[in-house]
Amino acid sequence: MSRAPLRVAVLGAGTVGREVVRGLLEHPERLCATDGAPLVLTGIACRNLARARADGIPADLLTDAPAHLVAAPDTDVVVELMGGDEPARTLIAAALGAGKPVVTANKHVVAHHGPDLEAVARRAGVAFRFEAAVAGGIPILGPLASDLAANSVRRVRGIVNGTSNYILSAMTHDGRSYAAILADAQALGYAETDPAGDVEGDDAVNKLVILARLAFGHWLGPGSIGRRPPSVRGWGRPGIVGVTGIELEAAAQLGLTIKLLATAIPSRGGIAAAVLPSAVPADGPFGQTDGVTNRIEIEAEPLGTVGLAGPGAGGAATSSAVLGDLMAVARGLTSTWAGLAPATDPAGSAADPLDDPRRWYAFVPAAGMASPLPAHAAQRNRAVITELGTGTAIRTQTLNLEEARAIVAPILPEGVDVTLYPIDD
Ligand SMILES: NC(=O)c1ccc[n+]([C@@H]2O[C@H](COP(=O)([O-])OP(=O)(O)OC[C@H]3O[C@@H](n4cnc5c(N)ncnc54)[C@H](OP(=O)(O)O)[C@@H]3O)[C@@H](O)[C@H]2O)c1
Repeated sequence: MSRAPLRVAVLGAGTVGREVVRGLLEHPERLCATDGAPLVLTGIACRNLARARADGIPADLLTDAPAHLVAAPDTDVVVELMGGDEPARTLIAAALGAGKPVVTANKHVVAHHGPDLEAVARRAGVAFRFEAAVAGGIPILGPLASDLAANSVRRVRGIVNGTSNYILSAMTHDGRSYAAILADAQALGYAETDPAGDVEGDDAVNKLVILARLAFGHWLGPGSIGRRPPSVRGWGRPGIVGVTGIELEAAAQLGLTIKLLATAIPSRGGIAAAVLPSAVPADGPFGQTDGVTNRIEIEAEPLGTVGLAGPGAGGAATSSAVLGDLMAVARGLTSTWAGLAPATDPAGSAADPLDDPRRWYAFVPAAGMASPLPAHAAQRNRAVITELGTGTAIRTQTLNLEEARAIVAPILPEGVDVTLYPIDD
C-alpha cells in the first residue's frame, strides 16, 4: 500500500539549501525508499526572494516568512538550513514542540542548544536529525549511534574544518604565508569574509561537541573546550592563527606536519576535549589529509580504529547527509542518537587533555634564539634537538606541559615566545 507523502518545508536557500531543493525536485524516485513515504517539497523560506528566483528556485514555493512555514498545517517535516543562532534555534524548537520532525545542518545550534533540543525532541517523541552538522557529507553520527553502538569508544579524533585544513595544506606545500593563502581561500569561496569561526577553531569545537555527545553520551559546553595551543610563556593564538610557515617547514624536515585536530577522550570520569593545532606524522592518515577534505577516526573496543575521510563541506556533499536524514524520517526512523540513552550531564565542562603528559614539538627561529641549547642538556632534559638552518627544532619525550616549557625556555630571549604543539601519532 502506498504511503501518504511527507510534506517538506526547507528553511534557507543558500549553498546547502539550494542543493537540497534540487535533490527534492530532480530526484523524487531516488529519495523514496521502498519502506518509506515519498517526499514532497511544499515551501522554501529565505530573505532575498528575488535572488532565490534568479537561482532557479520555483517562485510559487518561496516565502520570506519561515515561522509561518513551520506552523503551516501542510508542513509535516522541517529542514533548517539557515545557519546561525536565532531565529534558527526558535524555529527548530517550535517545530519539534509541535510534533514535526526536524533535519538540520546547523552545527552551531546543535552544539550550543543540544541539551534543550534533545529534551524537547524526546518529550515530543519526534525525530531530530543532524548528520550534516558534522563533516558535511561524511556519514559519522549515524554510524556512531547505530553500527558502532556495541562498542565502548576510547577516542574520537578528526580534521573537521576544511577551511583551516586548506590553509595549512597550502602553507605546507606552496610555502606561502598564512595571510596570502587566507586571501586566496576567500576568493575561491573556501573561507568566509570573516574567517574567525573557521580559523580560530569555533566551528571545529561545535563539531567536537556533537561527536562527543554521540560517542560518550554527554553534551559538553562549547566554551569549555580549549582551542589555544600552549606556548612556552603562556598560551598561543586560537586555532591555526598562530601557525607560521617556518614552523611548518621545520616540522617537514622532521617528518611531521601541523594539522588542526579535534580530539575527545574519556578521562578521569569526564571527557577531555580540545581543538588544537597538533604535530602529526606527515606520511600518516591525518598528515596525508590535505585541502578541504575531512577525516575522522574512531577508536573503540572491540572494533579497533576506523577512519572516515571525504568531503566535509560544500552544498552538494552536505545535501547528501540532509537528504539521507529526510529519507530516514520518511522511513519512520528516530533521531540521530537512535537507541542511545538520553544525554547525561547536560552542557558539562570538558576536561583539559593537556593535563596528561605527552610529546611536544616547538621551533625556535634562529633570529629569536638567546643561546644554542647544548646537546648534553637536551639529553638531560629528555628532548631531541635538531639544528636547522633556520633555527632549532625541539621534540620532547613524553612530558607534562611545565616540563616541556622548562626545556625550551632557556633558549628564548626576553619577550620572545613560541608555540608548543602536542605531537599526536
Ligand atoms: N556550506 C557548507 O558547506 C555547509 C556544510 C555543512 C553544514 N553547513 C551548515 O548549513 C547551514 C546553511 O549553510 P549555507 O552555507 O547553506 O548558508 P548560506 O549559503 O549563508 O545560506 C543561508 C540561507 O538561509 C537564509 N536565511 C538566513 N537567515 C534567514 C532568516 N532569518 N529568514 C529567512 N531566511 C534566512 C538565507 O537567505 P538570504 O540569502 O535570502 O538572506 C540563505 O538562503 C549552516 O548552519 C551551516 O553551518 C554548511
